[in-house]
Amino acid sequence: MTQFPKHFLWGGATAANQLEGGFDRDGKGLSVADVMPGGKIRMSTLSDPDFEWEMNEKMYRYPNHRGIDHYDRFQEDLALFSEMGFKCYRFSIAWSRIFPNGDEQTPNEAGLAFYDRLIDTCVQYHIEPVITISHYEMPLGLVKNYGGWKNRALIDFYERYAKVVLTRYHDRVKYWMTFNEINSANEFPALSQGLVPSNGANDFTHIAQAWHNQFVASSKAVKIGHELDPDLKIGCMIIYATSYAMDANPINQVANLLQNQGFNYYCADVQVRGKYPAFRDRFLKEHGTSWEKLDTTVEDLELLSKYPVDYVGFSYYMSSCVDEVNDAGGAARGNLVGGVKNPFLESSDWGWQIDPDGLRIALNELYYRYQKPVFVVENGLGAKDVVEVDGAIHDGYRIAYLRKHIEAMKLAVNEDGVDLMGYTPWGCIDLVSASTGEMSKRYGFIYVDLDDAGNGTLDRSRKDSFEWYKKVISTNGEVL
Ligand code: BG6
Repeated sequence: MTQFPKHFLWGGATAANQLEGGFDRDGKGLSVADVMPGGKIRMSTLSDPDFEWEMNEKMYRYPNHRGIDHYDRFQEDLALFSEMGFKCYRFSIAWSRIFPNGDEQTPNEAGLAFYDRLIDTCVQYHIEPVITISHYEMPLGLVKNYGGWKNRALIDFYERYAKVVLTRYHDRVKYWMTFNEINSANEFPALSQGLVPSNGANDFTHIAQAWHNQFVASSKAVKIGHELDPDLKIGCMIIYATSYAMDANPINQVANLLQNQGFNYYCADVQVRGKYPAFRDRFLKEHGTSWEKLDTTVEDLELLSKYPVDYVGFSYYMSSCVDEVNDAGGAARGNLVGGVKNPFLESSDWGWQIDPDGLRIALNELYYRYQKPVFVVENGLGAKDVVEVDGAIHDGYRIAYLRKHIEAMKLAVNEDGVDLMGYTPWGCIDLVSASTGEMSKRYGFIYVDLDDAGNGTLDRSRKDSFEWYKKVISTNGEVL
């Protein structure tokens, strides 16, 4: 019989800016997510050389402003998570609710009180909160007034913020992550670093500097957390994209090795091992910069080595291929992951290649590289759902996707010996897509009546996958 560990953390994952709404409520400041448009143009807008981080009148209709109104409906949503039997719930704190501009000396009490209510509701349902301290929504003030994460001043602002939330909630929250998908800046530094072409994203020195500052900030958060309570588990969070060489040609094999090092491991190596990887200088050179151009100190490096993370959190949605020789097969594109299309795999409606075996590979690669527990904190299928006349939503395609990925996790745990902490599928309730700002790209077990234009009752209803996942959890993954 294949089994998941007894205390396996089954649950679901969300991010504040994608579901809370209430973007200007109770003293919240603007975040980078608040100035992002909706619709498929989002990523290209942010790559526009003239894009400026500005808020204007027409932006007051942007999708993240309303989210799915979780700010006012979180109790109803948590009741549904509890009905599914969630053991944990991964969510993020909106930094701009706690420090509206990012650089204040004292936090906004109304923002802190909101997360007290949210956490207390989790506790009431015996659901372990798993908190991402920063998930794609830094205060806009830190971008406009300081230039985003490339500025070392942000280390202090993040430290202050992390200290406030860790101190306030550590009695009820054991699991934390410092930055969501920190390595996504490889492709797209706007969300996690506040960098767009108009404020420096075209120069990789800025991206590497921003990472360094984030690594230091992450270690400071680990230090604070462990001083408060040595039992807190504070992880990193990377986007892992399993990458294959297109064929056995050694040129492609080497190209794939380099791709993996740069995309999947550069950040995690620092955060988990506490030191930069040996390929650091080559990686920076490949991107037109060097270690000497970065502002780093001996004290920084000591801090990184003293305070690595406790576990490896990662998102996994898709894989892709590297073909340096032929570049055949067309492009496979995910939200933040490029590459060559794999002819053996099918794709989602958004072109993400579906590959459960790639998850087994990811689990093995990460666990055996780092020898620390791993946690799949995002996975799922973005798809268009149809509401039948009787209100039912038959999302068998989502069940099929999740089933295969859970089967892959089972093999990794039982056959390969991977120490896997838990599984929190992405967007357990429908929410605003990060890459496109759409509502129609749905991941949830719970349907939310809201369309891309912002029309709908916001009513929640259970999809077929709701009952299915409930059974998965109640049997600890036995019945899929
Ligand atoms: C991850 C992010 O990249 O993928 C989430 O951490 C995001 O914020 C998720 O929502 C799914 O991507 P998308 O673009 O379909 O929302």
